[in-house]
Amino acid sequence: KRRIAVLTSGGDSPGMNGAVRAVVRMAIHYGCEAYCVYEGYDGLVQGVRWPLSKEAFFGLVLLHTIEHVLSVSRIKEAHWEDVRGFLSEGGTLIGTARCMPFMERPGRLTAAKHLIIKGIDALVVVGGDGSLTGADKFRAEWPSLLEELVQKKELTPEEVKPFQHLNIVGLVGSIDNDLSMTDATIGCYSSLARICEAVDSVDTTATSHQRAFVIEVMGRHCGWLALMAGVSTGADFIFIPESPPGEDWQDEMCTIIKKHRSMGKRKTIVIVAEGAHDQQLNPIKPSAVKDLLTKKAGLDTRVTTLGHVQRGGTPAAYDRMLATLQGVEAVKAVLDATPDTPSPVICMIENKIVRRPLLEAVAQTKEVAKAIDAKNFDKAMELRDAE
Ligand code: F6P
Repeated sequence: KRRIAVLTSGGDSPGMNGAVRAVVRMAIHYGCEAYCVYEGYDGLVQGVRWPLSKEAFFGLVLLHTIEHVLSVSRIKEAHWEDVRGFLSEGGTLIGTARCMPFMERPGRLTAAKHLIIKGIDALVVVGGDGSLTGADKFRAEWPSLLEELVQKKELTPEEVKPFQHLNIVGLVGSIDNDLSMTDATIGCYSSLARICEAVDSVDTTATSHQRAFVIEVMGRHCGWLALMAGVSTGADFIFIPESPPGEDWQDEMCTIIKKHRSMGKRKTIVIVAEGAHDQQLNPIKPSAVKDLLTKKAGLDTRVTTLGHVQRGGTPAAYDRMLATLQGVEAVKAVLDATPDTPSPVICMIENKIVRRPLLEAVAQTKEVAKAIDAKNFDKAMELRDAE
């Protein structure tokens, strides 16, 4: 029986649970055993999280049942009913982490050992570009990790023999919608909805006081959340890293805002993507925008940073659907894989679920960031749109 494991890694995003549920149930449907790795790559590296020192723990084992040992395992078999109710839950119920030990080879060596001990040779990783890069590195190193495990006598040649290839499949779970080769990442539409709700709430108080608000939204290097939130809420001005304003942006913004006010608008909303804020060249600081609106446009202005509210709460219908369809495809991709198949990432392009080479998608995403840093915005957009 094939054993397929799933883990969530990096920043959580609404819909990750739906992906875990789909992978677990589809694996079982195809006659495989499904496993969940808890706390992201940390769970792979830890294998078992000992609540006490190992010696003390083994003492206690005399008093406890084997189930107690199993209950501290970070890599656990998942049954059909274990993922019941997952679809509508936010965050990730199997935990996530930004794991430092897995970035180093010794961490990955231990992770490989734990997978082999559990009899797992296929891993579905739900995460952002960093997590997916880590996964592919793990796959590329796999043969040499096995050799080292045998050399160090951690495992015998017989034990590693059935595990010559590690199948990796990526699912993009991130609110940022920043991965090339896919139109949407799992979580981005829930986050967008949450941002819109928050801006709508700010709107009512802004209108009451005739105030201006500068709202900072997440998205790392990507302006998708800010741009779409601005479009969806009718914001007056939007700052995104992919299209930084010209040198006369102060005048331009104030002119537009004054015009809106002269037409009877009682509130002003300016949205700043965190990527525009963090940009090396000409960063747009929300506090500077506030000062400008106060001094130059004469508006009573406040800054609101939405923060992690944007990542929280229940997944929108779109993310539940995307996570489910992509989780199903991930299991099919595992079962179709041959030793020569490059690791795929499951994408959504023009409303179709498709597979793309994981490494290429990640490399292209990094090229976009580089092009933005180099102020080559046309190239950045071309790369982000390329399929
Ligand atoms: O990648 C998702 C994201 O929420 C980004 O939008 C944001 O920059 C970052 O993660 C925040 O990370 P953390 O939760 O570690 O503060």
